[in-house]
Amino acid sequence: MKPIIFFLFIISVMFLGICNADNKKLKMNYYHKSCPSVEKIVKEITWSKVAADPTLAAKLLRLHYHDCFVRGCDASILLDSTPNNSGEKTALPNRSVGGYEVIDDIKKKVEQVCPHQVSCADILTLAARDAVSYQFGRSMWQVPTGRKDGRVSIASEALNNLPSGFANFSTLLGQFEDNNLDIVDLVTLSGAHTIGVTHCTLVARRLYNFTGKGDVDPSLNPNYATALRKLCPNPINRSTILELDPKSSFSFDSHYFEALNQHMGLLGSDAALVTNSLSALIVKKMQNPHVFLAYFGRSMKKMGGIRVLVGGEGEIRKNCRVVNA
Ligand code: HEM
Ligand SMILES: *[C@@H]1O[C@H](CO)[C@@H](O)[C@H](O)[C@H]1NC(C)=O
Ligand SMILES: *[C@@H]1O[C@H](CO)[C@@H](O)[C@H](O)[C@H]1NC(C)=O
Ligand SMILES: *[C@@H]1O[C@H](CO)[C@@H](O)[C@H](O)[C@H]1NC(C)=O
Ligand SMILES: *[C@@H]1O[C@H](CO)[C@@H](O)[C@H](O)[C@H]1NC(C)=O
Ligand SMILES: *[C@@H]1O[C@H](CO)[C@@H](O)[C@H](O)[C@H]1NC(C)=O
Repeated sequence: MKPIIFFLFIISVMFLGICNADNKKLKMNYYHKSCPSVEKIVKEITWSKVAADPTLAAKLLRLHYHDCFVRGCDASILLDSTPNNSGEKTALPNRSVGGYEVIDDIKKKVEQVCPHQVSCADILTLAARDAVSYQFGRSMWQVPTGRKDGRVSIASEALNNLPSGFANFSTLLGQFEDNNLDIVDLVTLSGAHTIGVTHCTLVARRLYNFTGKGDVDPSLNPNYATALRKLCPNPINRSTILELDPKSSFSFDSHYFEALNQHMGLLGSDAALVTNSLSALIVKKMQNPHVFLAYFGRSMKKMGGIRVLVGGEGEIRKNCRVVNA
């Protein structure tokens, strides 16, 4: 084992261990009899959608993360609100989550080929993997399957369980630990911000009014702060977006970690990762793209196992947007 890999391995074992109880309930090629072509279908549709619209890679990855952190990876995020219930989705528009139509397209095709066999939760997990993998032309990590779909989706749970972009290090780590994820997972998975965008509204405070005195966040790289103030002039336009990983937001690489080390983490939660000494050390290790990609796949697998429903739990939805009648 290479020394850095060994180092991270030790940290993981120290914190929560390398095995994840929930993941053990899932298995590779769960659908090999009931729907042998499902993984191929998900990959083909996801790759063609991402090829046509590269912003979808970030959207699908984020959709899966938001699903898993709220009630586990049970596709509850996909449920539309009903007259009696506002679902997780309604809490999320401000967080600009998207990619739902891709999941609908995949589900439609999968239902044609093998009706009522494949859960929406598995489709979303596979699609997130494939969306990131498109750039590499091969699957970047394994996705065990066998998840079932939940029947409950509650807006307030999304607000309470998803970490805020303003959260400090201890809050972030606490919220990850609530999901059986450790400090290595926190740093590694934050590396998802190597792709995608955020809004000026979420960064404005760091640029214009950090402590309420019209000041800039002193932890932000001053040159970067100047550039950001030009991109996000005051008063803030709510629709203006910014690359989370400057100049590299379509490339899934370890540049995000280099940016963190130059104090160019855009969200408060990104910047927070260098405020703790162990976390900062992990950020340094993740600058190596081989280490980052290997660990990202490992942490995605763990995240994909959060509180999954299996066996007789939950259901296989016919339509990912509504629970079965
Ligand atoms: C560590 C805690 C995290 C916080 C506080 C956080 C917060 C945020 C925020 C505030 C945005 C920008 C939303 C907007 O302006 O519209 C964002 C974007 C994004 N997040 Fe995170 N996030 C976290 C972890 C993750 C994880 C674990 C993943 C996936 C594995 C992820 C994937 C993404 C992606 C891909 C985007 C860009 C979305 C797009 O371009 O459409 N995030 N995140
Ligand atoms: C919604 O609530 C009303 C009144 O409580 C009830 O009559 C109706 O059946 C509910 N609809 C659904 C879809 O649960
Ligand atoms: C969400 O956005 C709407 C309209 O832009 C705004 O009125 C509302 O206060 C926002 N909610 C949160 C929680 O930020
Ligand atoms: C982190 O944020 C939480 C919630 O806002 C706060 O209670 C806590 O004191 C903060 N921790 C540190 C070390 O600043
Ligand atoms: C800056 O923050 C303070 C305290 O939160 C607030 O009273 C003030 O209106 C803010 N100024 C601007 C320009 O947003
Ligand atoms: C905000 O930005 C959008 C998109 O870039 C633009 O269409 C709109 O005119 C802007 N609004 C203001 C008030 O500048």
